[in-house]
Amino acid sequence: MSNNNVQIFDTTLRDGEQVPGCKLNTEQKLIIAEQLDNLGVDIIEAGFPVSSPGDFKSVEAISKIVKNATVCGLTRSVENDIKVAAEALKYAKTPRIHTGIGTSDSHIKFKFKSTQEAIIERAVKAVSYAKSFVEDVEFYAEDAGRTDNEYLARVCEAVIKAGATVLNIPDTTGYCLPHEYGAKIKYLKENVKGIDNAILSCHCHNDLGLATANSIEGVINGARQIECTINGIGERAGNTALEEVVMILKQHPYLDLDTRIQTEMLYGISQLVSDSMGIYTQPNKAIVGANAFAHSSGIHQDGVIKNRETYEIIDPKDVGVTESAIVLTARSGRAALAYRAKNIGYELTKLQLDEIYVNFLNFADKKKEVNDSDIHQIIESSKVYNEIITSA
Ligand code: KIV
Ligand code: ZN
Repeated sequence: MSNNNVQIFDTTLRDGEQVPGCKLNTEQKLIIAEQLDNLGVDIIEAGFPVSSPGDFKSVEAISKIVKNATVCGLTRSVENDIKVAAEALKYAKTPRIHTGIGTSDSHIKFKFKSTQEAIIERAVKAVSYAKSFVEDVEFYAEDAGRTDNEYLARVCEAVIKAGATVLNIPDTTGYCLPHEYGAKIKYLKENVKGIDNAILSCHCHNDLGLATANSIEGVINGARQIECTINGIGERAGNTALEEVVMILKQHPYLDLDTRIQTEMLYGISQLVSDSMGIYTQPNKAIVGANAFAHSSGIHQDGVIKNRETYEIIDPKDVGVTESAIVLTARSGRAALAYRAKNIGYELTKLQLDEIYVNFLNFADKKKEVNDSDIHQIIESSKVYNEIITSA
């Protein structure tokens, strides 16, 4: 693996599936896992096997069908969790156990009623035990975003010694600012002995809308794995959106960081996840929202019709959207009306357009969006209709 490759760790089926009311059955999970594998994700976190017999069954079934990606199962730093995860992953071509424990003062004091040293001991024990089942063991320091860097470095060093191959640094509560999260990764890169033998991973939550920005800061500062979900779904305000980080790295090649994702599949898989989970995607969602490539203001429409790049930084085809949309509303100009009219067979002269545009505005003031059949109706009822069809 080259040093500028960022591994994409998809957790749609684990952290993503924690969205209340969005539970998937095994069949739905298998369809999504297969598509994630085709999409080119490097790791699929298939579930939390000890959490329920259904989740165990799903992780096991996914392990059997995934051809390329590593299949991963989540555990706590609890022996039985790890044993059960290893069992569920036994058919995977490349299995990974993802184990960990809370490391922030608040987790240590309130969740575990423990001490920093005892937490390191539990972490090391969990990693060593996981290592007795699989070669690839990822360790998460839960709430790393609010964990003191010096202590976090000690935890990381200890688990690397115990055999951890990947160190997940979750901003579990979505608290960090991008420069803080980036500095945390840089600190670990510079202060943890043995860090070059492990991959640092970003796992950011979106409570302040910063999950994507934090993950990008993480990889700029030396992390080489991003944990993310399709459409950014997940616990509370969600996780880092896979489609966003992938397209940011693609659109900014000077960062010299890339992924193996087949970006033309992004829109399709976004629809699949949204339909399977019954979670509607907001229209203005970056990359995959219904309006991500739709233009409705007259000024923008005029620009896009002349040259798409005036108002679009991504070619919609690159993410699987057929083409940009010119949406007709009362804010649209003549250029957009002429463009849409031409698409349905009317080539209008300047004078004809002036005449029809007045009728169009009156119509659009009453209706939110003007569709093709409305355009036909507006043209057919105009004074210049006969002139248009006889010159056609
Ligand atoms: O957000 C988090 O800390 C997690 C861990 C369990 C990896 O999801
Ligand atoms: Zn999480």
